[in-house]
Amino acid sequence: MVWFTELVYTSVVLVSVAYAAAVPATFPKETRATSNTTKPKVILDNDWSPAGFIPYLQALSAGWDVLALTSNTGNTWNRQVALHALATLEIGNLSCIPVYLGSDYPLLNTPSLFQAWEDVHGVLPWQGAFKPENLSAEALGSDPTSGNPRRISRAAFTEGYPNTTADTSMSAAGLMTDMVRKHPGEVSIYAAGALTNVALAVRLDPDFASLAKESVVMGGYIDVNLLEVTGSVLQADISSDTNLMIDPEAAKIALTVAFPSITVAGNVANQVMSTQDFLDEIFEVKNPYTELIHKYYGTEFPFWDETAAALMIDPSLALNATSFYIDVDTSYASPSYGNIHAYQEALMPRAQQLRAVNYVTEIDSAGSKRMIK
Ligand SMILES: *[C@@H]1O[C@H](CO)[C@@H](O)[C@H](O)[C@H]1NC(C)=O
Ligand SMILES: *[C@@H]1O[C@H](CO)[C@@H](O)[C@H](O)[C@H]1NC(C)=O
Ligand SMILES: *[C@@H]1O[C@H](CO)[C@@H](O)[C@H](O)[C@H]1NC(C)=O
Ligand SMILES: *[C@@H]1O[C@H](CO)[C@@H](O)[C@H](O)[C@H]1NC(C)=O
Ligand SMILES: *[C@@H]1O[C@H](CO)[C@@H](O)[C@H](O)[C@H]1NC(C)=O
Repeated sequence: MVWFTELVYTSVVLVSVAYAAAVPATFPKETRATSNTTKPKVILDNDWSPAGFIPYLQALSAGWDVLALTSNTGNTWNRQVALHALATLEIGNLSCIPVYLGSDYPLLNTPSLFQAWEDVHGVLPWQGAFKPENLSAEALGSDPTSGNPRRISRAAFTEGYPNTTADTSMSAAGLMTDMVRKHPGEVSIYAAGALTNVALAVRLDPDFASLAKESVVMGGYIDVNLLEVTGSVLQADISSDTNLMIDPEAAKIALTVAFPSITVAGNVANQVMSTQDFLDEIFEVKNPYTELIHKYYGTEFPFWDETAAALMIDPSLALNATSFYIDVDTSYASPSYGNIHAYQEALMPRAQQLRAVNYVTEIDSAGSKRMIK
């Protein structure tokens, strides 16, 4: 979510990384010529940031094969996001994990369309990449917003500017479709930013979704309008669905396609809150990652992306979940543009094929924090 804040495929080189939880300061690497098919595989698509690396560490710590990280435009533009992914991998000696670039623009949305929508329907507290351009803020360390999507703001790399580069042999969407064909039924698609790349993969390859193992999405809030008006602007921010709203059309494609399973971490992603005590507890072990978390994660926001990752890695952390059919509002003229609408089976639309999603409503917060730590 979003907010204030070679592989030569023909030669099948897969990289596995094992993270030894007992030795948190080191990340032993192990490279194999073939994949370990008993390990869950995941492609993590996100709007990566200086302190946004916990989801891939959760997966590595659980012994998952992280096939790749992919970048999307969400909090900031795609290219800046990819560089944050590369930089945060580098500081942990994890550059064996490749990074692939997603799409710079959402399918239809642009900063000017989004800002015009806001003029009519009201302001989103966190506008992510669509916040008006402010070059003096960028010079002071903000990620780039609006303007040219290809520009990079070096001042924002509090984690260090990367010395590695993305794998440009294919796009994020191409990587996703290739990997599910290589490992049918085995690859989880984790999407914690806008859903542009997932939608592009769906359109590139009609079998993409059914060949994946599952998709896990951060975003998809429901019934939060009252919260948005009865609290502070920060409360409204925490309850707004920026991931889906950056690219509503992609969200609709990704959430209504035949993945064998779709897990949605919406409201539940607000249940595990960052606190100073918890950040201090993490920092009892000193390494580049705990330093960044301690310095930059902050205590204003919940562990959104980490909660979605936790539910993917250990579904037993879900204490309550429900299943229903969802659509995404793609009417630009609607105040709910980019928000989900839910249906029970008896009442769902006839003219379009919606999917039942696993909508988690309650998470074991202590268990999630143990995993994050
Ligand atoms: C594959 O991974 C599983 C789970 O981590 C492990 O138990 C098994 O020994 C591994 N097999 C090989 C051949 O590495
Ligand atoms: C890249 O290398 C430079 C020079 O050694 C270093 O200062 C910087 O921190 C490195 N970047 C990362 C992300 O580690
Ligand atoms: C990365 O590797 C360097 C050189 O081997 C080592 O000094 C450093 O501690 C490693 N970093 C981490 C986070 O393991
Ligand atoms: C641009 O950013 C600077 C530095 O953060 C801030 O002082 C200024 O108010 C911003 N301008 C606008 C129009 O928001
Ligand atoms: C699970 O959530 C549903 C819907 O909010 C609620 O009706 C039900 O009581 C909850 N079950 C438990 C065990 O908390």
